[in-house]
Amino acid sequence: MIQVLRDIPARRIILGITGGIAAYKAAELTRLLIKQGTHVQVAMTEAACHFITPTTMQALSGHPVLTNLWISNQGINNQGNGSQESDNQSYNSDDGMLHIHASRTTDAIVIAPASADFIAKLAHGLADDLLSTLCLARNCPLIVAPAMNRQMWENTATQRNIQQLISDGVILLGPDSGSQACGEEGMGRMQEAAHLARDIQAFLQPKLLPKLLTDTHILLTAGPTYEAIDAVRGITNRSSGKMGYAVAQAALELGAKVTLISGPTALSAPQGAKLIQVTSAADMLQAVQQQVADADIFIGVAAVADYRATQTSTQKIKKGATKLSLDLLPNPDILGYVASLPKPPFCVGFAAESHDLIKHAHEKRLIKNIPLIVANLAQQAIGADDNELILIDHAGEHVLPRADKLTLARDLLKHIVALRHSLTHPIKVRA
Ligand code: CTP
Repeated sequence: MIQVLRDIPARRIILGITGGIAAYKAAELTRLLIKQGTHVQVAMTEAACHFITPTTMQALSGHPVLTNLWISNQGINNQGNGSQESDNQSYNSDDGMLHIHASRTTDAIVIAPASADFIAKLAHGLADDLLSTLCLARNCPLIVAPAMNRQMWENTATQRNIQQLISDGVILLGPDSGSQACGEEGMGRMQEAAHLARDIQAFLQPKLLPKLLTDTHILLTAGPTYEAIDAVRGITNRSSGKMGYAVAQAALELGAKVTLISGPTALSAPQGAKLIQVTSAADMLQAVQQQVADADIFIGVAAVADYRATQTSTQKIKKGATKLSLDLLPNPDILGYVASLPKPPFCVGFAAESHDLIKHAHEKRLIKNIPLIVANLAQQAIGADDNELILIDHAGEHVLPRADKLTLARDLLKHIVALRHSLTHPIKVRA
């Protein structure tokens, strides 16, 4: 029987915030984690309170924030597995053992942002405030998302401390490279909240999810394609790749081997996926042809450009005073190719439509000869973190109500597992 993944009890984390400009991202991280069903208890260092207020974090997390080692009866609650809404009982720490009790009902402590100073404390086992004491007294995994100026990150002392944390079994998320609040460019930016929320969820979920896709190879296409016209111009579309990457993440959680063939996106691949980066539809088709032989399930999430320029110029085309026409050739249909193989994997397509959604999606499922198509409104999906999907198969339409893309991806995979099973093991009706 397929378990309803949305019914899994909430996981619990302590989110530790230390002093740094990236502390503002902890607000969004809290919001996203709660939305994904995680119970979040916030703990802040004194320095963190200079960047974002405990009041803000209390409002977002729904619980008083832990800030002081010496004050008892702070907001920790000790109910094992309830929901964010129902858990409002404060932990009574009259025995002065808050630093011990707090981590005992927690699945992980996440420090985001983790300043260079706090990382140094962790590396040396210092415990001179509530958060560092919680970390030292924990009996659960510690996840650290560093955030600092690039020189601080590159400093030998910080690198030595990071190596120490890695050898202590601490899980590091990031940092990223890019422009920094101080105006410099380089390594040290905290990963974006959505990226962190995804990886924290992935860390928390595997213990809960049945491994429905063990021994299953899922081949996915994601993102847009880019069809060059000249050295600097091309035809592409506004697909962000978020849905495809979420499906890859959800498949990994269920134990699948995942090959993700992706057009150009700004996303990083979920850990554990084999990422093959491509540019054009022709590249994508070639990569699919090379990977499809042992694929059990193919999911075409990519927004493949339907046309490419008949001729491309390696140099930039200069402007002229007269009309310029672009001659276009149709691109190969990658999903159509896979579905028409002699022994095709179980094929799933996406239909992004601007109008007549259901009608077009039904037609596409039949034309492409695939068991399942996922219909969604293009204007709602583009760039968004949330969406609403309609799954269309031989039995009809199944609505996945509006949710974040990872939740939708999990529900979609659950449906795929059930549908694939029912099609390969049809129920025999006795005469
Ligand atoms: N697809 C594909 N290769 C193409 C075009 C589409 O593999 N050249 C796949 C997409 O990944 C998606 C499905 O086919 O799973 C439907 O894509 P969509 O762009 O919605 O439809 P098209 O078949 O391109 O038709 P149209 O653009 O006319 O809606």
